[in-house]
Amino acid sequence: MSALTELYEEIARCRQCEIARTRNRVVPGEGAEDANILFIGEAPGWHEDQQGRPFVGPAGQYLDQLLSSINLNRQQVYIANVIKCRPPENRDPLPVEIANCRMWLNRQIDLISPRLIVTLGRYSMAMFFPGKSISKIHGTAQRQGEIIYYAMYHPAAALHQQSLRQIIEADMLKIPSLLARTEGIAEAEPEVQQLKMFEV
Ligand code: URA
Repeated sequence: MSALTELYEEIARCRQCEIARTRNRVVPGEGAEDANILFIGEAPGWHEDQQGRPFVGPAGQYLDQLLSSINLNRQQVYIANVIKCRPPENRDPLPVEIANCRMWLNRQIDLISPRLIVTLGRYSMAMFFPGKSISKIHGTAQRQGEIIYYAMYHPAAALHQQSLRQIIEADMLKIPSLLARTEGIAEAEPEVQQLKMFEV
């Protein structure tokens, strides 16, 4: 059994939040265990809660299309969420839920060891770009150590707001060149590795 599969079992036993009692299935995440790119959404919705898989509803179908626009599919990347249980009535995740679930995400990041983390929407953005606004930083990246963090709108937002569609699609198209820039970061001079915000 892989370390990630063992982690899923631990996540499934977690009862730290009230929503662990109301969920149908826990949704730890899925994809390539050695993925270069980790996408982090917000929280499972109805479809995800039914299937125990991330991004399988309308927003997920759109994410699949966005991935195929850069010749990727979901088996080649890893897809997870900030929180692993569905909030009732699709309400926003509570700060306590985000805090409780953070250790699971941290352990996923350690095990997958991605070169690029793509935040989808403001909740995952807030974890890595604290205090920033998505309308200002979408399509920009920040390097910290060996990982580049890249902020995008949430696919569901683009589904509900036509004006965001072109933006999210253009931001997705920047990912291949961004990934290429992650090559060699591990060998870079320490001063080059300092936290740095840059546009792509
Ligand atoms: N929205 C999310 O943020 N995550 C999912 O898994 C599905 C929809």
